[in-house]
Amino acid sequence: MDARGAPPHKVLAELQKAHNDDLRFRDGTILGSMCTEPLPVARRAHSMFLEANLGNPGYYKGTWRLERETLRILADLLHGKNLGGFTVSGATEGNITALWMARNTTRRKEIVAAKTAHFSVRKAADLLGMRIVEVPHDDEYRLDVDALRKAVTKDTAAVVAVAGTTELGQVDPIGAIGELCLDRAFLHVDAAFGGFVLPFLHGGDLPRWDFRVAGVSSLVLDAHKMGMATIPASHLLVREARHFERIAVESPYLTTVYQTSLLGTRNSAGVAAAYAAMRSLGREGYRKIVARCMKNTSAIVERAREAGIEPVIEPVVNIAAFPLRDVEAAQRALEKKGWRVSTSRNPPALRVVVMPHITAEGAAAFADDLVSLCRKLGEPPRKA
Ligand SMILES: Cc1ncc(COP(=O)(O)O)c(C=O)c1O
Repeated sequence: MDARGAPPHKVLAELQKAHNDDLRFRDGTILGSMCTEPLPVARRAHSMFLEANLGNPGYYKGTWRLERETLRILADLLHGKNLGGFTVSGATEGNITALWMARNTTRRKEIVAAKTAHFSVRKAADLLGMRIVEVPHDDEYRLDVDALRKAVTKDTAAVVAVAGTTELGQVDPIGAIGELCLDRAFLHVDAAFGGFVLPFLHGGDLPRWDFRVAGVSSLVLDAHKMGMATIPASHLLVREARHFERIAVESPYLTTVYQTSLLGTRNSAGVAAAYAAMRSLGREGYRKIVARCMKNTSAIVERAREAGIEPVIEPVVNIAAFPLRDVEAAQRALEKKGWRVSTSRNPPALRVVVMPHITAEGAAAFADDLVSLCRKLGEPPRKA
């Protein structure tokens, strides 16, 4: 650190320089991220609550009210009654907290999850001294319920099911998983991505995946992904609030007697941003956003299909993955054209996340480039 501080204009110029080197969602070229440009009202809300700290809620009664109201809105959306919960920094923190509760409630140490579960579950297992029992998935990359039946034992603390897998956007059969877990194991649903998509798809007429499934113990959903809020904003909801007692720690110098969150000082700007996004969009606003993302996803898939490139699965949410022979070569070629896409490992595929910042024109231009680059690279391979 320098002995003397620099003048603000100099500091701001340095910040601007760094900012200029960042990619921006608004340019419409990022198809490799599960985040997007937050709504303007969410940005505004974020900047209003920079000082608040929900780690010490007695000083921030207004922010605390916003958090409770946000959780009430979400409980209603996800068909839960009298749920416990709080805003977390992301699904990673949500998954860790849920598994922490599961371990302390059941006094068992095994987590059963499919390979398709997010790597944050591995972080949780490592931190909590738990062991992951991996179950296979079916041909459509959904957790295999028959395999799960064999894997759940008296040592199982929790089963993790996913509503919108990271790589393919697939939804595990949560109804059947819930039935199997009821009274046997804690069932945590990771809806980090799907949480703000599935309620607005097909008029919500989908196989049940939320608190309507009796066996679901907890659920996490990220408002900083399809929720249109700022980073960090995510929510952990728990069917029985008493489970939080199992992870409660005395917080002597604060305005609460106990703290049940992993974090101490807690981001509150994200709470306000999530509240603002949900209040200003309402169900109809999210429905329109999801419909547009799905339409753009279908446009990309259809164009690729015309060129003989089939997706790994028919997209369930706004994620499409194409199993090319040389995925990295295709990714590099697209990057040279200015597009950012990512890849999946299981199976190896080019992964395209069609977020709200992608317009119909952008999707069409991307699909054209995808098809012409794949042709150049000899994809799909000619059948002998
Ligand atoms: C299914 C799933 N769970 C958890 C996470 C981790 O979320 P976060 O980065 O908000 O901690 C992600 C992130 O992509 C995800 O897709």
